Amino acid sequence: MSSTPRVAILISGSGSNLQAFIDEIAEGGYPAQICGVVSDKPSAYGLQRADSAGLPTRVVRRGDYPSRDAFDAGLLQALTALQPDIVVLAGFMRILRGEIVARYAGRLLNIHPALLPKYKGLDTHARCLANGDPVHGSTVHFVTAELDDGPGIIQAQLEVAPEDDVASLQQRVQALEHRIYPMAVRWLAEGRLAFLDGQVVLDEQPLATPVLVTADDLRG
Ligand code: GRF
Repeated sequence: MSSTPRVAILISGSGSNLQAFIDEIAEGGYPAQICGVVSDKPSAYGLQRADSAGLPTRVVRRGDYPSRDAFDAGLLQALTALQPDIVVLAGFMRILRGEIVARYAGRLLNIHPALLPKYKGLDTHARCLANGDPVHGSTVHFVTAELDDGPGIIQAQLEVAPEDDVASLQQRVQALEHRIYPMAVRWLAEGRLAFLDGQVVLDEQPLATPVLVTADDLRG
């Protein structure tokens, strides 16, 4: 790791989680720096957020490559050029495969808007509401070759309100994401968090389950 670890952030959309990192770093004292933002979509609003923050950006479009393997190679090349110590997926809507996952094993994180292992994949808020779940939330996890299946690091949980709809749940979950994602990356950058032999270790203790925080814990 660099003395101030370099974090590459991969996005496809709004980039509100990217913004949470930008804001946290701007406050000072954060133990990592953003070395660049990569998007597979030229129209991603997160690219504008990155520009406004003076961060280098790269666009790697699937349509510019003849095959999925060639796209993966282009993505790896763009990432390698940024020399990241840590790679953060923040709403990146493509599944990372093979070499990228292997290259950044233990340094590659994702955030998924559900309390994994519940609701892997898409439409998590709608599925939570359809099932009448009393609680919902988001999970930061290490990325492995399986989709939304890497071991969890931290989960933020909230109570589903009777008046919640998809939009309100998404908004409330994202507000929690903006707190827990920079927290998990902080732990990794500080050397407190590791992924060793398939096991998440935090402060030298193996984590049997992700750290669980509630909306109340994060208030204030
Ligand atoms: C987040 O809700 C995250 O959980 C999911 O994609 C969304 C990205 O939102 N993986 P944003 O682009 O960071 O606003």
